[in-house]
Amino acid sequence: KFEGLLTAPPMGWNSWNKFQCDINEDMIREMADAMVATGLRDAGYQYIVIDDCWHGERDSLGFIQAHPERFPSGMKALADYVHAQGLKIGIYSDAGNTTCAGYPGSRGYEYQDALTYASWGIDYLKYDWCDTEGLSGVGAYTTMSEALKAAGRPIVFSLCDWGQNEPWTWAKEVGHLWRTTGDIYNCWDCEHSHGDWSSWGILKILDMHREFEIREYQGPGHFNDPDMLQVGNGMSVNEDRAHFAIWAMLSAPLMAGNDIRNMSPETHAILTNGEVIAVNQDPLAIQGFRYAAEGQLETWFKPLSEGRWAVMFLNRGDEDLPLKFDWQAHKVVDEVFDREADFATQTYNLRNVWTHKDAGNTKKALKGSVPARDVLMFVLDPK
Ligand code: GLA
Repeated sequence: KFEGLLTAPPMGWNSWNKFQCDINEDMIREMADAMVATGLRDAGYQYIVIDDCWHGERDSLGFIQAHPERFPSGMKALADYVHAQGLKIGIYSDAGNTTCAGYPGSRGYEYQDALTYASWGIDYLKYDWCDTEGLSGVGAYTTMSEALKAAGRPIVFSLCDWGQNEPWTWAKEVGHLWRTTGDIYNCWDCEHSHGDWSSWGILKILDMHREFEIREYQGPGHFNDPDMLQVGNGMSVNEDRAHFAIWAMLSAPLMAGNDIRNMSPETHAILTNGEVIAVNQDPLAIQGFRYAAEGQLETWFKPLSEGRWAVMFLNRGDEDLPLKFDWQAHKVVDEVFDREADFATQTYNLRNVWTHKDAGNTKKALKGSVPARDVLMFVLDPK
């Protein structure tokens, strides 16, 4: 793969969660415009990724064409437009014969497709796993990784096998991020049936993410991916806030999945919260971990650069919960990354990253309440 392309988790927008196949070149241009106009670009969002359904057919020489009605001007023109807004452009394909929505996959055409994407000016490829019978995950993803490298254009490679081939154990050399779960759905804790497959609410995705098993495999430039954001797609503001906070604590990719042309002020405030984004984008890129769980209340810690930590109190349940956290009684140890916060010997200043207010220090117990389906989240600074 191309090294050094991404250090922090990728940030961008992807068409799938909100629009599925209802996409076309005009709306992609409008998304690029909206990225700039709303300040999302300046907040760090960079990639506009066109998911499934952009494809037409292969021509007589095997070259993949854009869908003639949805993208009549072609992908090169669209890429030029997106680049002119100071953004990067991504596209989607599949390791099998067909994509999940039934369009042509790249199986047998990997090198040709990689060359085509490079010639269009593509910067990011999401590569799915439908219709891959008989293929080995390592083999198929390595082939496309090598094809991208041979094509010569730096392209971020996003693996999407839903964790089926345990990509965390091998994909660091192959790609920049890899899905760890099935598809996300815009609900807090549901399973949504699509007939022969399901998608999953925020808490289910979090629990499927195998946090302890996989966190050792994540670092700058290679990320565990619990799927794209559903912020602004219909959950309540507190659920959206908690969802975004969890993705920040995991240093997960932040790919907005809502209609960014038309956002509520609350959605906009969540997606552009610079202090929460800074936790996500911290240069150590360490995935946070569940430190304690009691009933519906969980306490998560994440080591940050410069000896700082992030802490998140997550209320999974439907009732507001009282919180009392006596720092002095806790010593947080991250054995995998060899970090320790011993509050009895080190005082940290607290900063509430959602209210943007300083919140005292760790000498005194933290008391408050965590609203239902919501979080409290702080950065701890040892200065
Ligand atoms: C799979 C992926 C989704 C999306 C769809 C497109 O389900 O996991 O993220 O790309 O395919 O068909």
